Amino acid sequence: MLQLKDAGLFRQRCYIDGKWTAGDAADEFDVINPSSGAKLGVMTGIGETGAKQAVDAAENASNIWRHMTARQRSRRLMRWHKLIMENQDDLAVIMTAEQGKPLLESKGEIAYSASFVEWFAEEAVRIYGDVIPSHERESRLIVLKEPVGVCAAITPWNFPSAMITRKAAPALAAGCSIIVKPASQTPFSATALAELSRRAGIPEGVFNVICGDSEKIGNVLTRNEKVRKFSFTGSTETGSKLMEQCAGSIKKISLELGGNAPFIVFDDADIDAAVAGAMASKYRNTGQTCVCANRILVQNGIYDEFSKKLLKAVQSLIVGDGFTENVTQGPLIDMNAVKKVESHIADAQSKGAEILTGGRRHSLGGTFFEPTVLADTTSDMKIFSEETFGPVAPLFKFDTEEEAVKMANDTQYGLASYFYSKDSARIWRVSEGLEYGMVGINTGIISAAAAPFGGMKQSGIGREGSKYGIDEYLEIKYLCMGNVYG
Ligand code: SIN
Repeated sequence: MLQLKDAGLFRQRCYIDGKWTAGDAADEFDVINPSSGAKLGVMTGIGETGAKQAVDAAENASNIWRHMTARQRSRRLMRWHKLIMENQDDLAVIMTAEQGKPLLESKGEIAYSASFVEWFAEEAVRIYGDVIPSHERESRLIVLKEPVGVCAAITPWNFPSAMITRKAAPALAAGCSIIVKPASQTPFSATALAELSRRAGIPEGVFNVICGDSEKIGNVLTRNEKVRKFSFTGSTETGSKLMEQCAGSIKKISLELGGNAPFIVFDDADIDAAVAGAMASKYRNTGQTCVCANRILVQNGIYDEFSKKLLKAVQSLIVGDGFTENVTQGPLIDMNAVKKVESHIADAQSKGAEILTGGRRHSLGGTFFEPTVLADTTSDMKIFSEETFGPVAPLFKFDTEEEAVKMANDTQYGLASYFYSKDSARIWRVSEGLEYGMVGINTGIISAAAAPFGGMKQSGIGREGSKYGIDEYLEIKYLCMGNVYG
C-alpha cells in the first residue's frame, strides 16, 4: 500500500465526463512497480465504445468551456496548479511507485508539471487576435483566435505527469476539452491529476483520462472526426503511424518524438561544467528522456581529462529503489528497455568500443542497470544512430569544429543538442549550424515551461510550452468586413 497523506488521490479508474468509470473487466490491467516488480494496482480500461463516449463527453463539454471567459478558465487552471503543488509529496510518491525514478526527481517533475498549468493559466488571458491594415478603404480585416475544439493526447511513461500538463494546460487555456490516454505503465499519475482537476472546478468532460488497449483507443482518438487536434509524445515509429491515422480526418497534430542528442565538448570548454552538464543530461531519469545526451562528442585535446572526470562522476551515482534516500538512479522501465541497452553495448563492444565502467545489469536484479561509460565509440555503431534510452554515455572523439557539427547533424533526428565552449564566435557558428529544435549552450538542462520544446526532422512537429505552445490549440479565423461605411 502506498503511504499517501490523501488516499483519495490514488484512483484506479478512468475519468470520463467527470465520473470515475468502472470500464470493462476485459480491458483491466495490472500496474507494476518497476523497482520491486510488485503489483501496485489494477487499472480499469475501456475499449472502443468507452473511448467514443469520452469523445462525445469532451465535445459537449467543449461547447460550454469555450464560452466561459478567459479569466474564468484561467482561475480554474490556477486552482489546479495550486492543488498540484499542495499535493506535490503524494503525487511524487505515486510517480516513483509506478515509474521508478528517485523521489527527489519525482518531486521535481511534479513542480515542472505544475509549471505548465501556471504558465498556460497566465497565457489564457492573453490570446489576442489582430486587426490588419486593409487593402481597401471600406473594408476591415480582423483575425480571431478560437479554440480548436476536442483534443486528444497520448502521453508517455517517462514523464507521467509533465507530459500530460504540457498538452492539457494549453488546450484548456485555449478553451478546448481534452481526452488523455496515458501510458499503461503509469496511469495513476494521470488519474491523480484528474482528481485534482475535479477539485479545481474544471467542469465535467473538459479533462478526461482513459486507459485500456492502446490500439483500440488510439484508433478512436486518431480517426474520430470530432477530435480536431491530436498530440503525441513517444517514438518516431509510433508517431509516424499515428500521423497516418490522423490523415483521414485532417487533424491538427503535434508530435514530440525520438531524439539522438549530441553533447559536444570543445577544447575551450570549462571541463568541470561540461562534466556536470553531461551528468545532468545523460543520467536524468536513468537516461530515459527524449532530450538526454545520446552521443558525447569530445575534442581530442581534452578527451582524456574529460573522460577521466566523467568516469569519476558516473561511478559516484547510487543505483537503487527510488524511495531509498540518496539514490540517484532508479530502474529502467521494463525488460525491453534493458534488452535495448544491452544490445547497444554489445554492438559497440563488438566493433571496438571499450567499457570504462558499467556495461551490465546491476546486481540488484530486475531492471536495474549499471551506469555505463563507453570509450572509443565510432559512427558505425548502433549507439551513434539510434536512441539508447538508458544510462549509457558513449564517448566519440573529434578533431575540428566542422567535423563535430557534421557528426552531430548526421542523424534523422533533430530534437535536443548541447555544446560547451567559451568562445563567443564559435557559440554563434555552432548554434546556427546544429539542425535541432533546441540547443543547450554550456548547460545540460534546457526544459522549462517558458521555453518552446520540440524538434526538427523526424523528431516531430510543433512546439510545446512557451508562448508558442498555445497556438497548437487555436484556429485562426479571418473576418473580412466589407462596406463598413454603409
Ligand atoms: C521527454 O523526454 O519527452 C521530455 C523531457 C523534458 O521535458 O525535459
